[in-house]
Amino acid sequence: DGVQIVDHPLVQHKLTLMRDKTRSTKGFRQLMNEVGMLLCYELTRDLELEEIEIETPLTKTRANVIAGKKLVFAPILRAGVGFLDGMLNLVPSARIAHIGIYRDHVTLDAVEYFLKCPEDIADRIVIVIDPMLATGNTAVAAIDRLKERGATKLRYVCLLAAPEGIERLRGAHPDVPIWTASIDDHLDEAGYIWPGLGDAGDRMFG
Ligand code: PRP
Repeated sequence: DGVQIVDHPLVQHKLTLMRDKTRSTKGFRQLMNEVGMLLCYELTRDLELEEIEIETPLTKTRANVIAGKKLVFAPILRAGVGFLDGMLNLVPSARIAHIGIYRDHVTLDAVEYFLKCPEDIADRIVIVIDPMLATGNTAVAAIDRLKERGATKLRYVCLLAAPEGIERLRGAHPDVPIWTASIDDHLDEAGYIWPGLGDAGDRMFG
């Protein structure tokens, strides 16, 4: 139903280490990088291939490469940037769209402050990256903006989601599939995911 839980043992193991409140900033950042790589591997699993002609040292042959234009990664500042690093290890030639949105601490509304994206995103697959999907306000606002700029083929990836955020994002943008390592129990009144891992941005950047 448009939501993929990435239950690979390495992802689940690393996520547990990240939930541990004694994890250092350095350790947390390193793990974010590693799970970013693993989630990227999963969410690119179904990309289309096309055959091209190449020459090995021995002969001419035909072989597969990913079809179409380069991917666009769209990290949501700040925490999305830490998550992006791992993904870029696997797809180093991706284009990047930076999206600045923070959550108002009282209303939990998404406050937009920055958007810089490549011109030609209409015919590229755009992957929106943010470790946390809480109320879903941030994700919905980010995807609204990217669609205004022409994006039509979107995917969303997070590390942790609340059931409330999944429902909100699926409702607002049913055409955008979601990848996550976990759907946690619930959101509290302050908008924190429980049991969660705290505030990913703060744990990564201070
Ligand atoms: C966090 C998180 C998401 C957002 C999720 O960012 O990284 O972007 O909240 O919440 P939502 O689904 O309820 O909108 P935060 O507002 O802490 O910004 P920061 O990373 O810049 O500190």
